[in-house]
Amino acid sequence: MRTFASLAVFALASATTLATNPDLCVPRCPATAQAKFTTQIPSGAACPQTNVDLCYTNTSLNLVFTALGETNFYFNPNQTTNGDIWEYEVMEAFIYKGANDPQTYFEYEVNPNNVTYNAFVYNPSRVRTAGAPFDHAFITDPFGDGFAVNTVLDKPNNKWTSRSTIPLALFNGENPRGTTWRMNFFRTIVGPDTFPNQQLCGWKNTGLASFHITPAFGIVQFV
Ligand SMILES: *[C@@H]1O[C@H](CO)[C@@H](O)[C@H](O)[C@H]1NC(C)=O
Ligand SMILES: *[C@@H]1O[C@H](CO)[C@@H](O)[C@H](O)[C@H]1NC(C)=O
Ligand SMILES: *[C@@H]1O[C@H](CO)[C@@H](O)[C@H](O)[C@H]1NC(C)=O
Repeated sequence: MRTFASLAVFALASATTLATNPDLCVPRCPATAQAKFTTQIPSGAACPQTNVDLCYTNTSLNLVFTALGETNFYFNPNQTTNGDIWEYEVMEAFIYKGANDPQTYFEYEVNPNNVTYNAFVYNPSRVRTAGAPFDHAFITDPFGDGFAVNTVLDKPNNKWTSRSTIPLALFNGENPRGTTWRMNFFRTIVGPDTFPNQQLCGWKNTGLASFHITPAFGIVQFV
């Protein structure tokens, strides 16, 4: 009797902790929630503003990335799907279904040329420790798999916007209402005069000049 009562209280307490501490609550489309960031990683110096507006359907996570204050629109036109687009300018989402600090997560990037990078990351040290394993497994047919992307440049207004759809089946995450995820969002800024030295901007500061620090990922609740 006593044991059962304690278990019930414990279960209630854990559920409440997860639900009351999210950094972002993502609603069903067409409502959206916004992750906005204006600072560099790791210095905290100013970055041009980046917005990520998110919502879900039963089968997909929809993201609208908006880069403001853009002056370079810098990409390598030779790079195609899953190329090293992160060497130039990109906006990124790191995505994991679950509440813990992940050792494997999905890395999604898009550049101003509408090219995407789609890979699961294997990062067992959680912080990309020097000498520890660190690997990628690419999604090789994203558009055949249900991904979608559409990128629009607005040079007069120093802005580029990318609308992306990512299938939730990739995470065994369909009908996500009530589930807790971990995510971080990033933007790189670089131009022909500064290449390859990028400004790194991010939603949750990783404390290092690296994006692959999973204890820093924000807590995202699907509501
Ligand atoms: C979404 O999933 C729920 C629960 O399975 C279902 O009731 C609803 O009809 C689905 N909506 C659509 C648009 O498929
Ligand atoms: C793209 O490829 C062409 C042909 O190989 C090459 O001349 C050019 O330098 C490449 N551009 C970049 C930015 O790498
Ligand atoms: C971006 O790429 C996707 C996938 O190839 C394509 O469906 C879409 O029309 C492209 N959008 C633009 C603006 O080029």
